[in-house]
Amino acid sequence: MSASLPANAVEVSGLVKTYAGTKKAGPKTALKGIDLAIPRGAMFGFLGPNGAGKSTLINILAGLVVKTAGSAKVWGYDIDRDTRKAKSAIGVVPQELNLDPFFTPREILEVQAGLYGVPKAERRTNELLEAVGLADKGDAYARTLSGGMRRRLMVAKAMVHAPPVLILDEPTAGVDIELRQALWRYVRELNARGTTIVLTTHYLQEAEELCDTIAIINHGEVVACEPTQTLLARTDAKELWLTLDRDVAALPASLVAFSAELPSPRKVVIRYQPSRAQVGEILAAVAAADLRIVDLSTKETDLEDVFLQLVREQPRAA
Ligand SMILES: Nc1ncnc2c1ncn2[C@@H]1O[C@H](COP(=O)(O)OP(=O)(O)OP(=O)(O)O)[C@@H](O)[C@H]1O
Ligand SMILES: [Mg+2]
Repeated sequence: MSASLPANAVEVSGLVKTYAGTKKAGPKTALKGIDLAIPRGAMFGFLGPNGAGKSTLINILAGLVVKTAGSAKVWGYDIDRDTRKAKSAIGVVPQELNLDPFFTPREILEVQAGLYGVPKAERRTNELLEAVGLADKGDAYARTLSGGMRRRLMVAKAMVHAPPVLILDEPTAGVDIELRQALWRYVRELNARGTTIVLTTHYLQEAEELCDTIAIINHGEVVACEPTQTLLARTDAKELWLTLDRDVAALPASLVAFSAELPSPRKVVIRYQPSRAQVGEILAAVAAADLRIVDLSTKETDLEDVFLQLVREQPRAA
């Protein structure tokens, strides 16, 4: 297969999903014609508010939800025409935990390997248990594992057949900080060794640090899809916080021109666009106004700002 590795690990075109309605609720269109390409080798983040359609998209790729229209390819395999190959190219950690409580982690991984036809000699059960920090829990019943441990076991389960594409739907929800970092270390390592990673998370800071490309989805539509750095550069805004050596009652006019504010008598905040104003100019204006600075800090735009801006531009449907 090495001669024909696909350029894109995942390709989605015109993907629509309408869930049938119930007596209480009408039909719901969760995906409104999504086009998307996830390059091979990417560390790709899917972000969006609750109900945006992230899990729906992931579950269609994994063969867990049936699409209404459009097409999708995983590792070059069409999910309709080459269903089996598409499925074996992907490992999914679903948002909902679904582990058999009466099996042990070791058994769960062995059964999963059997389902995917991984020969005994090629199984990596111990390595996987180790990687997700469950080596000492290998023989405990799944029902005795904590929520975070179960989630980590789900990650191991998704990796038993060493798929080239690993999709993690909220893998760190409920996992404590230390183990979250360990989990991400493992995922990064997999990515470095060539696995394409697609993840969703509500921890934007994590996405910002981990992902090279981010798609933001809202109301079933992709509202942005670009390299993380490009996305972050979208909001041309920075904040400069100054602490003064004494209280002031009002700001001089020269600073008001920089849209400065005085949140407290000794604190000045100046919001500026790095493309249009330079910190040097601002500080010169502060000095010229005879204000003495005892401390200063700046705040960069982070993913949360960009996210909120993009998601607010498209208000929630009634
Ligand atoms: N089985 C289902 N039947 C009917 N509607 C559904 C079903 N699953 C999801 N939906 C609806 O489809 C929309 C998208 O849901 P989805 O689970 O894909 O969102 P999400 O982006 O994963 O949200 P979250 O961040 O909360 O996990 C929501 O309006 C949801 O109510
Ligand atoms: Mg979801």
